[in-house]
Amino acid sequence: MLKEKGEKRKFVKTIAVTSGKGGVGKTNLVANLAVALAKLGKEVMILDADLGLSNIDILLHLAPRYNIQHMLNGMMGLKDVLISGPRGVKILPASSGVQELTALDEFQRLRILEEFDAFEGGTDVLLIDTAAGISENVAFFCIAAQEIIVVTPPEPTALTDAYALIKVLFTKYQEKDFTVVVNSVSSDEEAFKAFKKLSLVAEKFLHISLDYLGYIPHDNSVQRSVKAQKAFVEAYPNSIASRRVIEMAAKISGQEGKVKGTLQFFIGNLLSASANSSR
Ligand SMILES: Nc1ncnc2c1ncn2[C@@H]1O[C@H](COP(=O)(O)OP(=O)(O)OP(=O)(O)O)[C@@H](O)[C@H]1O
Ligand SMILES: [Mg+2]
Repeated sequence: MLKEKGEKRKFVKTIAVTSGKGGVGKTNLVANLAVALAKLGKEVMILDADLGLSNIDILLHLAPRYNIQHMLNGMMGLKDVLISGPRGVKILPASSGVQELTALDEFQRLRILEEFDAFEGGTDVLLIDTAAGISENVAFFCIAAQEIIVVTPPEPTALTDAYALIKVLFTKYQEKDFTVVVNSVSSDEEAFKAFKKLSLVAEKFLHISLDYLGYIPHDNSVQRSVKAQKAFVEAYPNSIASRRVIEMAAKISGQEGKVKGTLQFFIGNLLSASANSSR
């Protein structure tokens, strides 16, 4: 089992970003929150845990040569797989290796634990970009992380899907802490109304109270940045979307007191969550 070497290792805040529905802005939030946090002086790592097409590397114009699969095969070390993005944000591409990451045999588990155990580089925040929907794989990343951000647009159908995801994570995996980001809204009132709708249902039927991290307006600078393969907080730092994401980064970096556990601890959690389920 892993030993916590507190004096040598940094505590890291681990946040899984997920959604009920696909294409709602998770990857954009992860990429821009990461860059905004780095601008605030934080060391940030992104774990790209999405098998889908809109991957973080494409969004940030990066071309990873390897992914976590090469590490699991024993061909590469963690430091060979990590790539460096804007403002020194580190990206760990799991991509096609992500399914394997939560379905490992004992040998591979040991190998990955050793790799993370030997990792010297620290990080203050780990952001995990998950796939949409309620797969077991997504659930493992959510339960291993300290925080879960649920991204949703304000439309009723999307809120229903966000609620369905929260309900499964609560009833099946006993998760109670969720933070909501409402994306692509036309006003702050619209965003807050959507959050209230979702949180009232969660209170009434699950007896849990949801947190609100904030909202991102629908903003053309987001699409322009996607096309240019740049983070919008860098390309358009004064856009309305950027200002809201920068506020979220400031909130997150102000929550130091909540941070506990190292990167190694997170990986240990992830592996034991998936191991327990396959038993
Ligand atoms: N606030 C916004 N304003 C305008 N367009 C947006 C906004 N947020 C997201 N988009 C658009 O939505 C698209 C999908 O966003 P993104 O890839 O981040 O979603 P996702 O939830 O990660 O999708 P997937 O579930 O496929 O991984 C973006 O390419 C962008 O064009
Ligand atoms: Mg995505």
